[in-house]
Amino acid sequence: VSNCKHSFVKAIVVGVAGAATVAPALAADAGHGHAVFLKWCAPCHGPGIGNNGAPMKPGTYALLAKYNNSLPPLIEERTDLQPDFIKVVVRNGITIMPFSRKTEISDRDLDDLVAWLTRNSK
Ligand code: HEC
Repeated sequence: VSNCKHSFVKAIVVGVAGAATVAPALAADAGHGHAVFLKWCAPCHGPGIGNNGAPMKPGTYALLAKYNNSLPPLIEERTDLQPDFIKVVVRNGITIMPFSRKTEISDRDLDDLVAWLTRNSK
């Protein structure tokens, strides 16, 4: 049984490695990712005031509270965000942040969005 499980894991690793080799043809487009961000994320994660007189937009405000300025409250200014973390948060939501469906943000759009948000990452 453990042998069987091992080859299953191996198949996944080979599959991922195979996908990586074709990636250059489908290179993510950070410019389009910026447009995706402005449409779907900026209403909560942009700069400026929030609704009903709130001092900030809800995502910006929540991340200010969460990190107390040890990280920038604007996610566009972060340089520590990992692609997989962004994808999990976008697909599943986190606390009061709603998840996004593939009919709203396609996998391709999400790759572009990740390219935008990680453009300055170390
Ligand atoms: C309805 C408002 C709203 C929208 C729309 C929204 N977010 Fe959020 N987001 C939040 C809030 C609030 C949090 C903080 C959640 C918490 O308490 O940890 C958050 C947290 C995050 C985090 C976690 C950051 C961290 O370090 O904990 C990421 C990444 C993120 N959002 C990315 C996005 C992206 C990308 C989009 C657009 C696809 C988006 N969000 C759209 C409200 C929103």
